[in-house]
Amino acid sequence: MEQATIKVRNQQRSINKPNLMKIFWWTLTFLKPYRGLFVTSLCLGLMIASAQIAIPKFIQVLVDGVLPSNDLLKYREILVVLTCVIAIVIIATILKHLTDRKMQELVAGDMQIGVFQKMRSLGYSFYEKHPVGEIFSLFHTEVEAIQKINRQYLPTIIQYAITFSVTFIFIAMLNWQLSLVFIPGILLYYLIGPYFERKSAEYAKKLADSHAVLNKKQYDSISAMMELRAYGQEKWNLDQLLEQDQKTAAINVIFFKLINYRGAFRRVAVYFSGILMFIFGYYFISKELLTIGEFIAFTVLYYKVMFDLTILITNLTEQRVLLQQTIRLYQFTELTPDVEEVEHPEELPKVRGRIDFQDVCFGYTSSSDVVKNINLSIQPGEKVALVGTSGHGKSSLIKLLSRFYDPTEGAVYLDGINLTRTSLKRLRESIGYVFQETYLYGGTVKENIQFGNENAVDGDIIAAAKAAKAHEFIMALPEGYDTTIGERGNKLSGGQRQRIAIARMILKNPAIVVLDEATSALDHENEAEVKKALDQLFKGRTMIAVAHRISTIQDFDKVVVIENGRIAEIGTYESLLEKEGAFYQLLMGEKRNAANA
Ligand SMILES: Nc1ncnc2c1ncn2[C@@H]1O[C@H](COP(=O)(O)OP(=O)(O)OP(=O)(O)O)[C@@H](O)[C@H]1O
Ligand SMILES: [Mg+2]
Repeated sequence: MEQATIKVRNQQRSINKPNLMKIFWWTLTFLKPYRGLFVTSLCLGLMIASAQIAIPKFIQVLVDGVLPSNDLLKYREILVVLTCVIAIVIIATILKHLTDRKMQELVAGDMQIGVFQKMRSLGYSFYEKHPVGEIFSLFHTEVEAIQKINRQYLPTIIQYAITFSVTFIFIAMLNWQLSLVFIPGILLYYLIGPYFERKSAEYAKKLADSHAVLNKKQYDSISAMMELRAYGQEKWNLDQLLEQDQKTAAINVIFFKLINYRGAFRRVAVYFSGILMFIFGYYFISKELLTIGEFIAFTVLYYKVMFDLTILITNLTEQRVLLQQTIRLYQFTELTPDVEEVEHPEELPKVRGRIDFQDVCFGYTSSSDVVKNINLSIQPGEKVALVGTSGHGKSSLIKLLSRFYDPTEGAVYLDGINLTRTSLKRLRESIGYVFQETYLYGGTVKENIQFGNENAVDGDIIAAAKAAKAHEFIMALPEGYDTTIGERGNKLSGGQRQRIAIARMILKNPAIVVLDEATSALDHENEAEVKKALDQLFKGRTMIAVAHRISTIQDFDKVVVIENGRIAEIGTYESLLEKEGAFYQLLMGEKRNAANA
């Protein structure tokens, strides 16, 4: 067996704060599969923009050509052309909206699925580190923000960028000298505008963060409702919620003030250049450098260009704000799983169940290890009990066996293969894990057991439930196996939940059984029966059990006492008793507790 030492040290990659442009390109990558639709939308946009210029052009021809000469034939001609142009604008707009919508919905769907897949790939450690409320907010605020960028901002920005450019080129061609009046207005805006842009983007970020905290607090307070009631702490919790709510509201007020000032200032800039246009327009007409028709067309187009520009800038700014909100989602998509799958895993044909921990160290943070220098060999078919004081690293040690985490030093081997070289799927198929905290999801009892093996038929499910001593209480439920379990299994007692989790594991029929205080909530009688059933069902297979009641592990082949993340003692039940060391002390403690109870 090769001696591999892995240094992983919880590499939740520290990600530098990404710049908004990078994030913007990232949001665009979602459009990649729909290039065809995107180009169609662009072409339709160009068509609409070009056709829209026809109206001021029509006014110009009317004022300069038709009205002075009273040429009705020409008037009729341009009226027909204008009608056709309007028809084109209407049809092109309908087609563009349909194309955009189709593209947006496809992208929105891809995005949801992408986030879900990413969440799955991050696995166990991610969920231990991030509260559900926070993950939930990723789905709501952040995914919605990106969808909004693709649904609303991107099409608007592209469309107005096109109409602005086309109109501006046209206006410059009409009279380039007069079009210089745009410059002071734009300069004026850019003197102060960016300050408001920056400030409002900053407050938008604050607002998004504050919303995320509020979401998390709301989620936590609903989840902990029972505990809060039991401790009479509803008011305390409500005060916390209210405080966060008020903070969010205050930020919201400042944010909208800033947006308002920004808009007002933009209008000042537009009207300032507008006044200049009238002054210089009058001058050019008097010098016969401009016809009245051209001036009218220019005026109409000036306001159109400024209108387009304003919408463009507003949308760009608001998009910037939304992009700030998507930073966390972007960072989330950049996370690498703590535990990564090797590209070409080694075959694990038939699992025999030999497990070796070699010089294993592990810590959740880089500052301290909770598992220290563990060397432990477990033979195929051996029954090993882990015991020790609470918080000393038992659960952490067995989490390494299913590769929920990788050791920071040393390695764990299964049948002589380093776990980092096996396929995660194959590894987890081989291990039946009953967690310390049982999570039942909100389906029926049957679904919760079937989870262990989706191909199992009703007979198998009932047999597993019987072995786990769960059948009787399940049958007493209102709809038996079809009873729906409330979120987190609220309608069942702790012991009942544990028995369902055991039935699930039995149905999985794994090569290795790992029980983390799996029967801790059962009474003595039920515990003994479930243990007997497990012994029979998994005879000859490796079993590792973290035990809370030392009296239940007499028949185990090996007992390992864990103290401060290290193996303090190891041996058979009898040998450890004789030694009168750490194990003996634990047993005495348990007896004293039982006597005092
Ligand atoms: N997900 C986690 N993130 C950070 N620290 C953790 C995490 N899980 C456990 N710990 C810490 O690691 C240490 C060992 O915890 P572990 O759950 O392995 O103990 P244990 O021996 O199983 O205790 P118990 O008997 O109470 O179940 C504890 O100090 C605990 O606070
Ligand atoms: Mg534990």
